[in-house]
Amino acid sequence: MNNNNHSAPIGVFDSGYGGLTILREFVNRLPAYDFVYLGDNARSPYGSRSFQAVYHYTLEAVKKLFGLGCPLVILACNTSSAKALRSIQQTDLPLIAPDRRVLGVIRPTAETVEKYTLSKHVGILGTPGTINSGSYLLEIEKLSPQLTVFQEACPMWVSLVENDEFNNPGAEYFIRKNVENLLARDPRIDAIILGCTHYPLLVDIIRKFIPSHVKLISQDNIVADSLIDYLNRHPEMNNRISKLGNIQFFTTDSIELFEKRGSVFFRKPFHAEQIDL
Ligand code: DGL
Repeated sequence: MNNNNHSAPIGVFDSGYGGLTILREFVNRLPAYDFVYLGDNARSPYGSRSFQAVYHYTLEAVKKLFGLGCPLVILACNTSSAKALRSIQQTDLPLIAPDRRVLGVIRPTAETVEKYTLSKHVGILGTPGTINSGSYLLEIEKLSPQLTVFQEACPMWVSLVENDEFNNPGAEYFIRKNVENLLARDPRIDAIILGCTHYPLLVDIIRKFIPSHVKLISQDNIVADSLIDYLNRHPEMNNRISKLGNIQFFTTDSIELFEKRGSVFFRKPFHAEQIDL
């Protein structure tokens, strides 16, 4: 039975704005579905925070989204997916909500990377949290052990995007530095995973510093494909999601700022509400 009588949206969580690039693609591909977006802007960025802090913050957000009726929550944040997802799935869910699901963005990305590379040498750009967690290395090793993977942490990039400084000349210094560091590790790299949901906004600048044959793998399409595949394989979950085409936006910080900056990521204006975790 398709339960449309009460709101049971898909929850989409990010530390801040970046997950809006993922939500945007979800909405494009699943326009009938209800979604709730939660950005923890008050505590963003998560990238340099400890495992314990990211786990604690992410769990609070997941519980809040469950409280808003979400049967399914997507952690549209690589840092949360890297540092919190496994504990939430294995330890917390069985206790707090055994019938609900939380999924991340790293596994779907790791599952598809192989099809983008001919040389079998791939690079990953991400926050220090994501890179140091080794989550991409672990997942790719499990799924595509024939690939050789090189990583580069980009500590400044999220702040450049969140502060709307990425189109200014100073930003290029940091972007160039990390991209060149990565490519210097192995000139055979022919595909680079943008392992952070903020990075799609930097694509034009990143391209200035990579050879034209190197593919940039952005997560929005990959994660949307993966969600659709999941819903097809899990009709019992699909039937629980309400489908009135409603989207709600929540931020833990200033509404005005979130609506203004967030519209750059979501690529259209929206209204948000403040929420405490
Ligand atoms: N969008 C988050 C990610 O994908 C940014 C992390 C942060 O807040 O530093 O990793």
